[in-house]
Amino acid sequence: MADIFETVDAYIDHLFVDEDEALKAAAASTTNTDIPDIRISGAQGKFLYLLAKLAGARRILEIGTLAGYSTIWLARALPEDGQMVTLEFEPAHADAARRNIERAGLAGCTRIITGDAHASLERMRSGGEAPFDLIFLDAEKPGYPAYLKEMLALSRPGTLLAVDNVVRKGEVLDPQDEYGEGAARFNSLLAAEPSVEAVILQQVGVKGHDGLALARVK
Ligand code: DHB
Ligand code: MG
Repeated sequence: MADIFETVDAYIDHLFVDEDEALKAAAASTTNTDIPDIRISGAQGKFLYLLAKLAGARRILEIGTLAGYSTIWLARALPEDGQMVTLEFEPAHADAARRNIERAGLAGCTRIITGDAHASLERMRSGGEAPFDLIFLDAEKPGYPAYLKEMLALSRPGTLLAVDNVVRKGEVLDPQDEYGEGAARFNSLLAAEPSVEAVILQQVGVKGHDGLALARVK
């Protein structure tokens, strides 16, 4: 039986999350594949979409595309001439994302860069990529500490950073593996980072107990 948090998530979805065919197809695209079923929830997608709109984001960077479900939510918050860049390590995930993003009619504004995201971020920085207005980090957790500086290098004052999975069922209090360790170290670095103001939003729902870090670059 679904627990109360899942039931309330379904209630919130029913009221506020209107997934169209493209989002439903993106959500379903990982079923019976090797792509892990770890995408953000519908309510989290709507939340990121609202954050991007509130931030007036014209350029959004995502680190960790998976099959593009969150990419679609974020790209839909962009204005007509907005730009979405999303980084994915696994070619099979990037291929699925490309299909899902095309189906959503967002191929024109979305650049998918396949490969090691740390290397892609360094290439973007050294290549003079313009700063992003919003950066969503949802990639492999051991890499989180290194991603902080890499995200800041592609930010400007006012950039909003949103970072998934920084609570991990409370494991960050006493990390048991490199995933918990990565998230916990990221949180400590973020808290000590003088160039941001930040907080963690604790979350429950269909994805269990976790948290989203939010930071604004000073
Ligand atoms: C995992 C990764 C995620 O991005 C997520 O949202 C949930 C779980 C994981 O790798 O365990
Ligand atoms: Mg995640």
